[in-house]
Amino acid sequence: MLEFKSVSKRFGQITALDDVSFRIEDGEFVLIIGTSGAGKTSILRLVVREFAPSEGEIYLDDVSVHDLRKRDVPKLRQQVGAVFQDFKLLPTHTIAENIALALAVKGVPQREWEERVEHVGNLVGIADRLHLFPSQLSGGELQRASIARALVVNPKIIFADEPTGNLDWETAEGIMKLLARINQEGKTVIVTTHNREIIKEHKGRVMEMKKGKLIKDTNKKHEKAD
Ligand SMILES: Nc1ncnc2c1ncn2[C@@H]1O[C@H](COP(=O)(O)OP(=O)(O)O)[C@@H](O)[C@H]1O
Ligand SMILES: [Mg+2]
Repeated sequence: MLEFKSVSKRFGQITALDDVSFRIEDGEFVLIIGTSGAGKTSILRLVVREFAPSEGEIYLDDVSVHDLRKRDVPKLRQQVGAVFQDFKLLPTHTIAENIALALAVKGVPQREWEERVEHVGNLVGIADRLHLFPSQLSGGELQRASIARALVVNPKIIFADEPTGNLDWETAEGIMKLLARINQEGKTVIVTTHNREIIKEHKGRVMEMKKGKLIKDTNKKHEKAD
């Protein structure tokens, strides 16, 4: 469960988020839509405690994200697998090494790495690309690799921020299908996008952001709650 209670985030004069409240239950597949600057990325950065809210409260299950001590932040980040538009893969490391780094950070014993990297590589459909470097992969493959890196530590939530932003439509559709499958296998998946085509194809819950406000949430039950 991920819950925002009246969360606002200001950067000086700029209001990135303005009194945003929602609750996402385990196993949901939520699309957060909105034009550039609407506040989508700020939601992710608040969830992983890159910064704290100016006002309001954020909960991940029973953990109050805004109250976490600094030393507990890495544990939080292992529960939320973040996927970015620009992949954030290290160019000097192979795909397998990039994925294994997430395991190293979590403190998973090295003897388990190979099997776990191969497992997620298979799952996202890049098993035959694992030995290559990021510069040798296509955009769609790079995004699959970054999803594999997020998955390998077995997070509760996959939060993908504009994962299709740099991809052509057909490749983007493949990434959305992969995320849907990951959701069907039991994970909570949250995806942000400004792409109208993707919204058309999505059957689940849609939250719409505009100028920092949550202006629409197809989950009526929660909309009425406040
Ligand atoms: N670190 C920051 N410092 C100042 N302004 C920021 C910062 N991060 C985001 N903003 C501003 O907050 C607003 C929302 O940004 P963002 O959450 O990145 O929107 P989106 O991801 O929907 O494009 C924008 O006006 C942006 O310029
Ligand atoms: Mg953004």
